[in-house]
Amino acid sequence: MNIYTFKNEADFNATGASLIASLLHTKPRAVLGLATGSTPVGIYGRLIEMYQQGLVSFAKASSYNLDEYVGLPEGHSESYRTFMNEKLFNHIDIQLENTHVPNGNAADLEEECVKYDAMLEQNGPVDLQILGIGHNGHIGFNEPDDSLDGGTHVAELQEKTRTANARFFPSLDDVPKHAITMGVGSILKAKQILLLVRGEDKAEIVKRALKGPITTQCPASLLQCHPNVVVLLDQGAGRLLG
Ligand code: F6R
Repeated sequence: MNIYTFKNEADFNATGASLIASLLHTKPRAVLGLATGSTPVGIYGRLIEMYQQGLVSFAKASSYNLDEYVGLPEGHSESYRTFMNEKLFNHIDIQLENTHVPNGNAADLEEECVKYDAMLEQNGPVDLQILGIGHNGHIGFNEPDDSLDGGTHVAELQEKTRTANARFFPSLDDVPKHAITMGVGSILKAKQILLLVRGEDKAEIVKRALKGPITTQCPASLLQCHPNVVVLLDQGAGRLLG
């Protein structure tokens, strides 16, 4: 595991974006595993700038997002499909049909999960999987539990997660209670994982995840089992690592 700590946001974003751009240079048909949330937004912004400057192309790449809320109407401002279109896809040359986000409005959610895993199996493995981490150690929407699902599944969101995400909705009641998420098995199949964490409020969970025991009670701790993880932290998130 390679852990890098950054003093300023611009360097954090530039490093994350360069890693993705380098992959696309060596492998234009790369399969990207993408995350939403606030942490990758600056990196997506930097990638857009690089694309505009002719420094990177996504024309042959494909992408698979980690997760999507269940039940938000199509086009809802907080759906992860809308987020990805607005924060990245609409501004670069990726073919929209090559971008994949689980359909949280599928009539049969179980079937949607099976279909998503089949696509990942057929078109994967993911070359580079971007991850953030929740305050409870979740990755994707794999919440701490006695056991975890390997494949894509419907997850019930914990109150802590719903409360953290309530900042994007009019009220806590508007935050969906369920999401479709790739499982930890699918996440760990990626060839390389890029874990992004910012903020002092994440320092404790970063320490537990990266240096604590490997346990399903902290899903991100399973990343310690992966042979190729790069972690980008700001100073706040890295402050307890010593
Ligand atoms: C998002 C996702 C979540 C977030 C995590 C951190 O697709 O799967 O696991 O990565 O909740 O979110 P932020 O970056 O907002 O702190």
